[in-house]
Amino acid sequence: MTGQGSASSSSGPGGYDLVVVANRLPVDFSVDDDGAVDWQRSPGGLVSALEPVMQENEGAWVGWSGAPDLAHEPFEADGMMLVPVTLSASEIEKYYEGFSNDTLWPLYHDVIAPPAYHRQWWDSYRRVNQRFAEAAAAQAAQGGVVWVHDYQLQLVPKMLRDLRPDLRIGFFDHIPFPPVELFQQLPWRRNILEGLLGADLVGFQRGGDASNFVRAVRRLTDHPTRGSMISMEAADGTPSRRVRAAAFPISIDTMRFDELARSAEVQARAKEIRADLGDPDVVMLGVDRLDYTKGIRHRIKAYGEILQDGRIEAKNTTLVQVASPSRENVGAYQELREHVEVLVGRLNGEFGEIGHSAIHYLHHSYPPEEMAALYLAADVMLVTSLRDGMNLVAKEYIAARSDLDGVLVLSEFTGAADELAPGPLLVNPHDIDGMKDIIVAAAHLDPKEKRRRMRRLRRKVMADDVAKWSKTFLGVLTAMPSRDSHV
Ligand code: F6P
Repeated sequence: MTGQGSASSSSGPGGYDLVVVANRLPVDFSVDDDGAVDWQRSPGGLVSALEPVMQENEGAWVGWSGAPDLAHEPFEADGMMLVPVTLSASEIEKYYEGFSNDTLWPLYHDVIAPPAYHRQWWDSYRRVNQRFAEAAAAQAAQGGVVWVHDYQLQLVPKMLRDLRPDLRIGFFDHIPFPPVELFQQLPWRRNILEGLLGADLVGFQRGGDASNFVRAVRRLTDHPTRGSMISMEAADGTPSRRVRAAAFPISIDTMRFDELARSAEVQARAKEIRADLGDPDVVMLGVDRLDYTKGIRHRIKAYGEILQDGRIEAKNTTLVQVASPSRENVGAYQELREHVEVLVGRLNGEFGEIGHSAIHYLHHSYPPEEMAALYLAADVMLVTSLRDGMNLVAKEYIAARSDLDGVLVLSEFTGAADELAPGPLLVNPHDIDGMKDIIVAAAHLDPKEKRRRMRRLRRKVMADDVAKWSKTFLGVLTAMPSRDSHV
């Protein structure tokens, strides 16, 4: 491994053939009372996808540590060079909580919450994106590949190309790309499009996201488009290179979940969970970050009305709702938490009994072993997002159910629905009556039909794991014609 340069240097090529750039590093940092910094690997989906290719390809990962003002030299972890980018407390507020999660996040998720447009947030977003681009430029080998991830870093491809025209640059958008009619609200819409067009390949979760992007390019810039290809011009106006926009639906480490769920420990834990819940006839499960895009309130409302109508008996049923803490300094997330907790309290007050809760609300994150046990314990999995790039929880549930038991209720507004239909029971979470009917049907689904649907879902999910996703994306990126022969 020959990595050189610090995270803040932009000089000359470094030694890494593959550089991943993502908002977060795949480690959790902790700072003790004496100021000593320690870190531990955080086992995310993206890192399990990229680790093997990073190890094969001399890889470096550029990202934020997750803590304010933490400056740390690049360091090696499991065959990858990790390159921390420092963010100040003010940048976390403006770039991360502000522009990324209170402007872009709601705008890209169908304006479920109103996006806030603040010029200071935009300035910070630009500055931080420039820092990430410089850090990547310092690490990448001559002619290397840089893969930039997600909505927090949409300006990086162009900034990086300006610094290092020799690189091959890919970008993957993990969240939806909105229709141009919404996207055009953004005062800096053109800068974002030009930022993304710095890449050779721009990947999305769904074909619909890729078409939204190409339509926005057509409507808001002068770059000619043809199908999924966009032509970029040189300074003298002659065509210089082409950008491709395409769908690459992401997956999970399917074998890991399958194996975890087959293990004796997890199976025993699943039984224990059901026993602790009082062995109800039906266990329903929701697993989400506590985010307004996930339709948690709609789900609890529907469930409460089903109990109220007596279509499912409260004493024989329970809903376990895992809502992991997320973006807790952003107002819309604080409001959501209040609403959800009031709803949960009301429901339990009305339908709970001593020793039995109608809903178990868990505001925590859990390790994969506990998640696999929860999936196994759940008869019905409720994924009711109002808009979701993919929804990996749906895929985890399927990967855990090698017993072919369990029913997936899945929102039409997820990327997963595009891929998995007709296996799940699809719902429109805005249609509370329709969703109630589907949830009741799911609770009573004929065992044969259950198995038939789960078999179909597993055939799809087990064939497409996240390693295949990253290989496919990188394969398409590296097979693209080199710049000189582009046009
Ligand atoms: O879905 C987009 C995403 O950025 C994921 O990549 C990430 O796991 C999740 O949201 C949580 O994001 P944050 O970094 O804001 O906690």
